[in-house]
Amino acid sequence: MIKFTTIILAAGKGTRMKSDLPKVLHPVCGRAMIHFPIQVAESAGASEIITVIGHGAESVKDELSDKKVSFVTQEEQLGTGHAVMVCKDAVSDKSLPIVILCGDVPLFTKSTLEGFVQSHMTEKNSVTVLSAEVADPNGYGRIIKDGDEILKIVEEKDASTEEKQIREINSGIYCVSGDFLFEALDRVGNINAQGEYYLTDIIKIGREMGRRVGWTTINDNLEIMGVNSRKDLAIAEKAMAQRVLDRLMLSGVTIKDPDNTYIDIDVNIGAGSVVYPQVSLESGCSVGKDCIIETGTVIKDSLISDRSHIKPYCVITGAKLGEDTTVGPFAHLRPGAVLKNAAKAGNFVEIKKATIGEGSKVSHLSYIGDADIGSGVNVGAGTITCNYDGKNKFQTVIEDGAFIGSGTNLVAPVRVGSGSIIGAGSTITKDVPPEALSLTRTEQKTLPDWTKKKNKEAK
Ligand code: UD1
Ligand code: CA
Repeated sequence: MIKFTTIILAAGKGTRMKSDLPKVLHPVCGRAMIHFPIQVAESAGASEIITVIGHGAESVKDELSDKKVSFVTQEEQLGTGHAVMVCKDAVSDKSLPIVILCGDVPLFTKSTLEGFVQSHMTEKNSVTVLSAEVADPNGYGRIIKDGDEILKIVEEKDASTEEKQIREINSGIYCVSGDFLFEALDRVGNINAQGEYYLTDIIKIGREMGRRVGWTTINDNLEIMGVNSRKDLAIAEKAMAQRVLDRLMLSGVTIKDPDNTYIDIDVNIGAGSVVYPQVSLESGCSVGKDCIIETGTVIKDSLISDRSHIKPYCVITGAKLGEDTTVGPFAHLRPGAVLKNAAKAGNFVEIKKATIGEGSKVSHLSYIGDADIGSGVNVGAGTITCNYDGKNKFQTVIEDGAFIGSGTNLVAPVRVGSGSIIGAGSTITKDVPPEALSLTRTEQKTLPDWTKKKNKEAK
């Protein structure tokens, strides 16, 4: 493997995003954009990764706090050349080639990077530019060539009408020999349309210094697409989403309608699982093998174990589901919801900070909050844990094998002993011992012929 250093430019403001969030922190498939070039550099074996930060420096640093990268702050954004220049002291081994990437180019891949560095080395270049032939070169620096020789790069704003016709553009990705880079940057001035120190000037300077200057062209232009606006962000999101789905499908997951399925990049799904349309699986969620996730379900920060079946239109956040569980349709599992193996949370059931034990069922129209339910429990339709008195939250415990009749209110703190039965419609305020029957119904009163008499009187 070729050793190289990476510098990632991420100090710019990203004005066109119209956002308070630094551009490189906007997420693509659930991951802040800045992570993508870092991950590519890491996986290609970069020996050092230096990130140039400026706008929103602290938030960018926070986002990358667990990454093995070093930071250089560019106090004033005086141009891409200046941004690299400020890294001079941070580069520990200047004999290595330096790969320059941009923080706002999320679709660039490891294999392209490897091939690029390889060709820089093979051709013994001092600087190699990654170029692309595009349909609309607007906004990009143009590659000015004489035959096969690259002469210079001209920025859009400095280009003549003739130069603007050129459709071969600068991707903003370079591989530069360390010894050459900083010597060349010393010679870069800022006499141009934007009054900036352009990194692109090192091409012309390289030629003047008699160095070998080369280029390679990328096949897939999407890879070098820079995200400058929210429109670009949506394009990047779509392309990244397709990669995520392709990876999952190749690993044995059925995605019924890839155009209408949204899965974040860090989500794992086991082989044999089936994902229906309009499903959103967001960051921090993991789905086991042979699961079924039906239409309209949104899952975030949750673990769904093997063979679980999530029926349509469920919202699941911060929950942990064991194997063979069944959820929904229309269930809401909130943070701290735990379903043990083979447990069920049926339609219109909301569960928060509560454990539903193995094989237990909460099948219809219930709210279970701050509760610990044992195994083999049946919670009847419309049962509510009254966990909140307006100030504090209290715990409900239902022991193994208990049967809670429909329409029960469990006024916490309260405990229902194992094997007990609660009669339907009860309001339980006191603990129930094991194997008891408890009910709080008032006796039913029936007045025969009551309506018949009323109707007669009315005539
Ligand atoms: C740059 C190139 C252009 C190329 C295009 C590809 C220059 C002069 N131009 O233009 O040839 O076609 O990228 O996308 O290099 N940045 C800093 N500090 C600065 C200025 C910029 O860190 O002082 C960072 C930005 O955050 C961004 C990257 O450098 O990540 C590129 O800067 P940007 O202003 O977007 O350059 P372009 O005008 O797109
Ligand atoms: Ca740009």
